[in-house]
Amino acid sequence: MKNVEITGTGRAVPSMVVTNDDLAKIVDTSDEWISTRTGIKQRFFCDKDECANSLAIEAAGKALKDSGLSPEDIGVCICATVSGDFATPSMACMVQRHLGLRENIPSFDINAACSGFLYGIEVARGLLNGTGEKHALIVGCEQLSKLMDMTDRSTCVLFGDGAGAAVITLSDEKVYASTLGTRGGYEIMAYGAGPKPSKLTMQGQDVFKFATSIIPRCIGELSEKSGLGLDDMDKVICHQANERIIDFVIRRLKADPDKFYKNMDRYGNTSAASVPIALDELVKEGDVKRGDLLMMVGFGGGLTWAGAVIRYAGRSTE
Ligand code: UT7
Repeated sequence: MKNVEITGTGRAVPSMVVTNDDLAKIVDTSDEWISTRTGIKQRFFCDKDECANSLAIEAAGKALKDSGLSPEDIGVCICATVSGDFATPSMACMVQRHLGLRENIPSFDINAACSGFLYGIEVARGLLNGTGEKHALIVGCEQLSKLMDMTDRSTCVLFGDGAGAAVITLSDEKVYASTLGTRGGYEIMAYGAGPKPSKLTMQGQDVFKFATSIIPRCIGELSEKSGLGLDDMDKVICHQANERIIDFVIRRLKADPDKFYKNMDRYGNTSAASVPIALDELVKEGDVKRGDLLMMVGFGGGLTWAGAVIRYAGRSTE
């Protein structure tokens, strides 16, 4: 199998900024509690004229433009989400239609919660190798605000809406590794958006313990598979659930804190969107340049986890 590299990125967030102080007017919480326990200071929620599909289409369009490719070049379209607008048509089908991608390509959604974008990369790599296509468009997109119980302070302060996307391209690149895993359980539960009010629930402490053990395990597996350690990486992007989780991992692995990107202060936890949003920010801010090596780790509902070592080969900072 050939490897893949990242050749374009994009992101989109809705217009409504919701601060911790805004939430303190709705539930018994405070900016102090949310900031110190999670690192989150604000998040974005969709307004009336915004939805998951509109975010996904915007982020995907930006990633495609960034790659310099045309819609006809895309051979696989995958959206990772747990909060799509419809059961069918899928979010990926709407992206295919609105971006004018070819009809003779697979377009479908993946549900692996916060690990979904990284599941998407590995699934797309398999499909590209199997079909002879060269480029895939992968989107991570969530509108979690519509799944949240806004009376439950233990969850409603954590999550946000947003989308991130990347184009990945088959190449002769030697470095690439991935790891995917599952430990089925109900620690994080959400019913789909529908006529009944949805209640997203989470056993926070259990998930915290899971996260702080699974990230080092993923990093270890990726290092073993790629033959490369954290020192060889230019940046590490972990799922942005809680600043304390990332700080714990940095301490445990005695790693360089500057390599671990954090942006949950501005977005909250955007589940499948968190890794590709962080990726796009790093690229657009010039902190990831063409040729850089990235390690990415996702973990969350399912429970699922996923990691990738992948090269950034985009044009943006050429
Ligand atoms: O994306 C999927 C992956 N998800 C995660 O990785 C999340 C992992 N878990 C976490 O990040 C943390 O467990 C949370 C941020 C969810 C919670 O932090 P914690 O330090 O584990 O708090 P806790 O659940 O132990 O609650 C501590 C106290 C409780 O009060 P008592 O029982 O000590 O009186 C809670 O009722 O904090 C209370 N509390 C709050 N207080 C003010 C819970 N939520 C809030 C709140 N504001 N929003």
